[in-house]
Amino acid sequence: MKKDSRIVHAGRHPENFSGAVNPPVFHASTIVYPTVAKMEAGAVNQFEGVRYGRFGTPTTFAFEEAMAEVEGGTRSIAISSGLAAISGTLMALLKAGDHLLMADCVYYPTRKFCESVLNTFGIETTFYDPQVGAGIKDLIRPNTRVIFAESPGSLTFDVQDIPAIAQAAHAHDALLVLDNTWGVLTFQPFTHGVDVSIQACTKYVVGHADAMLGAITVADPALWKQIKTSVAAFGHSPGAEELYFGLRGLRTLSVRLRHHAQTALTLTAWLKTRPEVARVLYPPLPGDAGHDLWKRDFQGGCGLFGVILTPHSKQAVDALLDGLTHFKLGYSWGGFESLAIPTSGHSVIRTASVWAPEGPSLRFHAGLEDVTDLQADIEAGLDRLS
Ligand SMILES: Cc1ncc(COP(=O)(O)O)c(C=O)c1O
Repeated sequence: MKKDSRIVHAGRHPENFSGAVNPPVFHASTIVYPTVAKMEAGAVNQFEGVRYGRFGTPTTFAFEEAMAEVEGGTRSIAISSGLAAISGTLMALLKAGDHLLMADCVYYPTRKFCESVLNTFGIETTFYDPQVGAGIKDLIRPNTRVIFAESPGSLTFDVQDIPAIAQAAHAHDALLVLDNTWGVLTFQPFTHGVDVSIQACTKYVVGHADAMLGAITVADPALWKQIKTSVAAFGHSPGAEELYFGLRGLRTLSVRLRHHAQTALTLTAWLKTRPEVARVLYPPLPGDAGHDLWKRDFQGGCGLFGVILTPHSKQAVDALLDGLTHFKLGYSWGGFESLAIPTSGHSVIRTASVWAPEGPSLRFHAGLEDVTDLQADIEAGLDRLS
């Protein structure tokens, strides 16, 4: 079966649910047992079967089965948000005295988690230039346990050489963890050497801007057990409705992604020709700094891209953004709707590499609206800018 077909089927077992196409939403905390013997038998293998709501219900297991298919891994762990997937993974894999290599282009809350929580627990983080590639080997220390990548970076769109980083990590017994949110479905992490793939399912998997959800996926069952044990110890527990929204969203993921990506490609190709634009940040666009790596490793794109304007005042950029009608101002992405944010100033923090945009920068998420409406919206914004 081809991937799109497998995702339609994944995690659905109508034979278990009176033939219903979709798994039902189990609202469950307490699970009752008929006998003490059954209770005791359940406790032997804590994470298999339905034992207690926090450890998972048939809705959880359906979502996890489907997410493993989306990511091309063997098992997933559902969790309450993308950031919980990141922090849950790092807390599971690191201990006091360990060293973490973290891409300099990561989503800001990931950076903050390292600098605050991990630091307090005696785990040292070194940020690395996302363009380092195989050169990461020079940064690996005897106590480096995890290398974390985010590719493309969700604000600056740096594409990382994941296979080269994976090779260096494995040569030194370190694990490579990837925030694969931008590359959902178009980057198959485990064929490129990733050990743990993170999805902020809040974005494209849910796809409708109405739920927070995350997933941690692995290829190695032993790693699954290690992460699941830690995640369960922290008490993480995704909501039943959220899991259902994730399940529903992922059935249409590939169709939506193709549309988002086509619109983003049209808009970025046009934006590139505009005199107000210094640079467009969209790896699928020929000429983008990450285009060659994207072409080698990815099978498609999504709707998220960046734009660097030629020098303009903050007031002019605010006028561009404030007057947009289809693109609403909002921090997330991956839903059916178009969004925009300014990314200048403090939103991009670099400590190990240079981020020197020619002018103010913006991030757009191309939604599922008609592309001509979206182009007209940005065009009117560029007029306000000038
Ligand atoms: C790349 C990336 N990773 C992780 C997250 C965190 O996801 P969540 O908002 O579900 O915690 C985000 C959210 O914006 C993101 O953009």
